[in-house]
Amino acid sequence: MDAAQRRLSSALENIPAGQYKALRLHLGLDEKTNAAPTSQYPADHPLNPNLNGLHWSWQGGYIFLALEGAFRAKNGSPAGFSYHLARSPNRTALTFEGDFDLTADATVDFAFDVPALLNAQTPLSFTQDGLSTPSHKGDPIVAALKANLKDAFTLKGVTSSLPEISRTSTVKPIAMPAKHTPYRFTMSGYFSIPPLPRDNPLIQEHIALGQKLFHDTALSRDGTLSCASCHLTANSFTDPRRFSIGVKGRIGTRHGMPLFNLAWKTSFFWDGRAPSLREQALKPIQDDLERDETLENVVAKLEKTAKADFALAFDSEAITPERIGLALECFLLTLTSFDSKFDRSMQGKEQLTDEEKRGFELFMTEYEPRMGQKGADCFHCHGGPFFSDHLFHNNGLSPIETDTGRERVTQDERDLYKFSTPSLRNIALTAPYMHDGRFETLEEVIEHYDHNLRRGPTLDPNLAEHPPTGIRLSSEDKKALVAFLKTLTDEKYLAK
Ligand code: HEC
Ligand code: HEC
Repeated sequence: MDAAQRRLSSALENIPAGQYKALRLHLGLDEKTNAAPTSQYPADHPLNPNLNGLHWSWQGGYIFLALEGAFRAKNGSPAGFSYHLARSPNRTALTFEGDFDLTADATVDFAFDVPALLNAQTPLSFTQDGLSTPSHKGDPIVAALKANLKDAFTLKGVTSSLPEISRTSTVKPIAMPAKHTPYRFTMSGYFSIPPLPRDNPLIQEHIALGQKLFHDTALSRDGTLSCASCHLTANSFTDPRRFSIGVKGRIGTRHGMPLFNLAWKTSFFWDGRAPSLREQALKPIQDDLERDETLENVVAKLEKTAKADFALAFDSEAITPERIGLALECFLLTLTSFDSKFDRSMQGKEQLTDEEKRGFELFMTEYEPRMGQKGADCFHCHGGPFFSDHLFHNNGLSPIETDTGRERVTQDERDLYKFSTPSLRNIALTAPYMHDGRFETLEEVIEHYDHNLRRGPTLDPNLAEHPPTGIRLSSEDKKALVAFLKTLTDEKYLAK
C-alpha cells in the first residue's frame, strides 16, 4: 500500500469460500520471505522492489512500514521525521474478530489512522523520542510503533461487491517484420524484473533502427544535432557541458541526464514530465531549445534516407512518429549498466579498499546519534541496486525560482523544488551534478549534504531530520564517501 502514490487496494485470490470468525493481517514478512531473492517477482507483484520501493538491498529485507513527514519545530523552523519499521521480529499481527461471510467475492475496508499510530497506547514525541528509527533491536520508538499499530488499523466494514479495478489497457499489436530476432535482455541478478512495455517487444530489428535514429542528425532542424550530440557514450550518455547547446546555439537550463537502466523508470526528465520513453523520445525533436523540428519535417527527411531501415524493422516502409518513438524506446530500453567494481565486490570477484568500504558504510547508514549512528543517510533515496528510488525529492538545494521541478508538472505546491532522484551508477563520469549542473565535483556534492541543506517546507524528511548545523562528517569520511562513489563506474558499459 502506498498512500502517496494512491495505491490503496490489493486483491487476494483462492481463499476457500466460507463463514469466517476473524481476519488476520500481518504487517511485515516472515524471516524466509523477507530474505528471499527479489528477482523472482514479476514486475506487477507487490514484493517487486521496483514497485514498492521498500527493499533494503545489500542488507536484505523489506521495510514493513515507512512513515515520513514534515512538521514545524517549536521555534517555527521546518523539520522532518522518518520512522521505518523493518526486520522480521517486528512483524506484527493484527486480528479483527467478527462474522465474515466469504462465500462470494467481498471487499474488506480498513482505515489507517496516523495520529493513532503516533499517540495511542504509547505516545511518541518527535522532539523527545527522536526523529528517525532505523528499526534497531531495543529501540523504544520501534516498541511504541508496534504497540500502536493495533489501534491505528480499524476495520470499517465488509461489502459483497468488488471495487472497480483498472486493468492495464489491452495490448495493441504493433507491426513487426515476419522474420524477427528477439533481444536477450541482460541485467544484474540484484535487479528486479522491469516493467517492460508489453506492446513494444524488444526485437533486434527495432533496436537497430532505434540506435541508428539515435545517431541521426535528420532529427534536428538544421541537421547538426543527433541525440548522441548531447548524450555522449564516454560520459555514460550524458552531456559534460553544464547546459546542453541546442540548434542555433540556444542554451538550455538543465543539465543532461545519463541514459542507462531506463527500463525500471516510469517517468522521464528531471521533472518526470514524460510518462514513457516513446513519448520522451519525440520531445527533444520538437523542443525548440534542443532541435526545434516538427515531426512532419522529420518524417519527410527520413523518407528520403531511411525508408529501407524502416522496412527492415517494420513490415512496411511507412515512417510515422509513432514508429520513430517505438524504435527509439526499444533501443533505450536495452541500455543496462550493472558491472562496476562495486557490483563485482558484491559477487566476491573483487575487493573494495578499506576506504571504499567505509564510504559504503556511511552511504548505507542512518544519521541517528540517539542510537549511536552517524551515517550519511544517502541510501534513503539512492538505495538499492539502481542507486535511486526513482522518486522525486527536494534534496535541499537552494532553489532557482524559475525552475520549480516536479511542481511544474503536478501544479501541487507539495512538489515544489522536487526533482527526479538520479542513479549514482557511473557518477564519476557524469559531472557536472544536479538538475542545473551547479556542482562540478563530487566533493562539492558531499559538502552540500554535509552542512549546506536549504530548509524549505518541501525538504525531504530524511534530510530535514539532520541538525541545523549539518551532520559534519570528518574529512576522512568525506573522502571515503567519494571513494565509494567512484567504485560505481561500469567501464564495460562505456564500450557500448
Ligand atoms: C540539445 C541536447 C539534447 C539532445 C539533442 C537530446 N537530449 Fe535527451 N536530454 C537532454 C537534457 C538537457 C535532458 C534533461 C532535460 C529535462 O529534464 O528537462 C535530457 C533527458 C533525456 C532523457 C530522460 C532520461 C531520464 O532518466 O529521465 C532521455 C531518455 C533522453 N534525453 C533521450 C534522448 C533522445 C532519444 C534524444 C534524441 C531523440 C535526445 N535525448 C536528444 C539533452 C538532449
Ligand atoms: C532525500 C533524498 C536524497 C538523499 C537523502 C540524498 N540524495 Fe542525492 N540526490 C537526490 C535528488 C532528488 C537529487 C537531484 C536533485 C536535483 O538535481 O535537483 C540528488 C542528486 C545527487 C547527486 C548528483 C547526481 C547527478 O547525476 O547530477 C549526487 C552525486 C548525490 N545526490 C549523492 C548523494 C549522496 C552522496 C548522499 C548522501 C550524503 C545523497 N545524495 C543523499 C536525493 C537525495
